[in-house]
Amino acid sequence: MNKAKFITFEGVDGAGKSTHLAWFADTLRQRGLEVLITREPGGTPLGERLREILLNQPMHAETEVLLMFAARLEHIEQVIRPALQRGTWVVSDRFSDASFAYQGGGRGVPLAKLELLERWVHEDLQPDLTLLFDIPVEIARQRLSNNITLDRFEQEQADFFERVRAAYHRRVQQNPQRYAVIDAAQSLEKVKYQLEEVVLSI
Ligand SMILES: Nc1ncnc2c1ncn2[C@@H]1O[C@H](COP(=O)(O)OP(=O)(O)OP(=O)(O)O)[C@@H](O)[C@H]1O
Ligand SMILES: [Mg+2]
Repeated sequence: MNKAKFITFEGVDGAGKSTHLAWFADTLRQRGLEVLITREPGGTPLGERLREILLNQPMHAETEVLLMFAARLEHIEQVIRPALQRGTWVVSDRFSDASFAYQGGGRGVPLAKLELLERWVHEDLQPDLTLLFDIPVEIARQRLSNNITLDRFEQEQADFFERVRAAYHRRVQQNPQRYAVIDAAQSLEKVKYQLEEVVLSI
């Protein structure tokens, strides 16, 4: 438990990431750790402005990729690295896996372009641990149906989210030791139980 860790939450819209993130961070804090909660796109003043555009403004799929990684570079340099360097753990609601899943899987942007940007923006930084909130697309869609407004991604059809989910699974297969796959279709209580197990394993 010496070095501060960088932990990310991933999964399709409606999987339950945001619902569980604060609780997860508090569980780490109860162990005496300093924990910073952040999110993507966003996490900095510029990143939050880019988030607003990304979630609402139609654009070319590759423009979307470039803006995501621009926001990410700012997030890494202004927030993530400084926190880790001062010994603060960082828990981020999404990171680069989401670009591979949404822009790669969902929108079909070639993997090579995403890999190029990943190397450019954070060759020497990867999450120490990624919790993938895995859930059948229909269940996630049902959960989102309570929302009054849906952003540009949440408005996508089921087949888009099937591709996103499959791309997340490919990321896990390529690098299984970095991920904890959470069965996010279960009740709130059972998801919490799985997260407790993860905290115990850190
Ligand atoms: N295990 C669960 N059982 C039932 N409902 C849940 C569960 N987890 C989350 N929800 C509900 O599902 C909805 C979506 O959850 P949440 O906003 O946490 O998803 P998200 O993964 O952050 O989605 P997005 O990527 O769109 O931000 C919320 O209304 C939340 O209360
Ligand atoms: Mg969320």
